[in-house]
Amino acid sequence: MKTSIALIGFMGTGKTTVGRILAEKTGKEFLELDARIEAEAGMTITGIFEKEGETGFRRREMAVIEKLTGRKNAIIACGGGVVLNTINVERLKEECRMVCLTASIDAILERTEKEKTRPLLETGDRVSRIKELLDKRESLYRQAAEIIIDTTRLSPGQVADGILAELNEL
Ligand code: S3P
Repeated sequence: MKTSIALIGFMGTGKTTVGRILAEKTGKEFLELDARIEAEAGMTITGIFEKEGETGFRRREMAVIEKLTGRKNAIIACGGGVVLNTINVERLKEECRMVCLTASIDAILERTEKEKTRPLLETGDRVSRIKELLDKRESLYRQAAEIIIDTTRLSPGQVADGILAELNEL
């Protein structure tokens, strides 16, 4: 029986917020991949993208996931791009139930609008960028996930409860 949960899904779908609530509800350890990447690099995500490009960021992301392979009793909030590398998904799947959060484009836009912490969304036309990235990733999220929850009209607490209910049923 797998003891950890990985939250995957696009930026702004609530992985971090829901992950914290899940950790509280289950007593498991909360781990946020982006925060770990920043701590190990001694740079912010934006700084890493500026200095090392997306390639450097993905390398760091992969290294952090490798270190967490097999981690028990954890709730792992992943960055939106972890599914781009199959090896990340395989490593996560070793000990994690895989849960994908989704949201409408409007909700993603609203939730990501105020922050400037996501280099991939720092572009003139955010909606087109979101659509373009979703287009490339949707099938990857679907393939990697055991369960998929649309968070558009739910509070983070409702999402967390929904995840726990679904995982118990599987
Ligand atoms: C990314 C998502 C971000 C962060 C980085 C790249 C992506 O995490 O890892 O900016 O490729 O979707 P969140 O999904 O937590 O915003």
